[in-house]
Amino acid sequence: MKVFVTGKLSDRAFDALQNFAQVDAYESDDPMPREEFEARLDGKDALVCILGDKVDRELFQKRPQLKLVANVAVGYDNINVADANDAGVLITNTPGVLDNATADLAFGLLLSAARRIVEADGFVRRGEWKGWKRELMLGAELHGKTLGIVGMGRIGKAVAKRARAFGLNIIYARKGEDKKADDALKKAFEAERVSLSDLCKRSDFISVHCPLRQETRHLIGKAEFALMQPHCVLVNTSRGAVIDEEAMIEALESKRIASCGLDVFEREPLVPERLIALPNVVLAPHIGSATKETRAGMDELAIKGLVEAFSGKLPSNAVNPAVWDKFQGSR
Ligand code: DGY
Repeated sequence: MKVFVTGKLSDRAFDALQNFAQVDAYESDDPMPREEFEARLDGKDALVCILGDKVDRELFQKRPQLKLVANVAVGYDNINVADANDAGVLITNTPGVLDNATADLAFGLLLSAARRIVEADGFVRRGEWKGWKRELMLGAELHGKTLGIVGMGRIGKAVAKRARAFGLNIIYARKGEDKKADDALKKAFEAERVSLSDLCKRSDFISVHCPLRQETRHLIGKAEFALMQPHCVLVNTSRGAVIDEEAMIEALESKRIASCGLDVFEREPLVPERLIALPNVVLAPHIGSATKETRAGMDELAIKGLVEAFSGKLPSNAVNPAVWDKFQGSR
């Protein structure tokens, strides 16, 4: 079978794939032109891709031999799963292996924004520091405050675990009724489930961890910013479009909220000039899962799922297991 890989893989994952299939790999770390992407996908049974690769009905129609797409990311908003279902294409992602890395970055951004670490670094480097001052770079203390977690999945829980160690109280909002899960969260973190509006009103800090879906696009917008406290620090390591970026910039500029720590943006890699101009934001280039260990884990999970699927075993990281029979019939 033939596989096209659109990004670099760790040696272990690449070797495992090469032992199993004929591999065509795009070796550069730079984004691949779309025409090249489509041309090289020609005749391939599977695609191993990254979140910048758009996969939808048009692609499935042009490349009907494609049977599986392994997305090397936990988020799969770059893939139209409904279109994949229609085409009988199995989709996999990489859940679980990046929870700690992403939670660490969320916490890093929270601390950086709350304690103004990046601002302070610039201040020292520019030679502006003239000595200790009582009021210099005053920030917000974490201990005893309330952290609102939006989306309490694996990464949200990893953030909650860190938050407890920092003495934060936790409230969270998420979709779906699940009393058992809520009870478990209460027991593990003394976490209280609230509505999104209450979370916005009560949180000193907010960290966003829900996936981007149709129903979560601009989940946090003008109305939600209007509810937040002026000292609120907002962190986003999920997907940029979960927050209405325009509304967020307005909230920051008008001091409706205090600051933001952002790893993701609505139109990556575009970061609006107005955001860059603000001193009270910490910006990162979508590096939530960027540790050597986690990237290797993501690659290995993606390849494991692919090998399992083409060996007749439904992978545990399949996003649309409902197409399994169709997939089996096509391979
Ligand atoms: C993911 O996995 O969805 C991250 O955003 C990229 O690693």
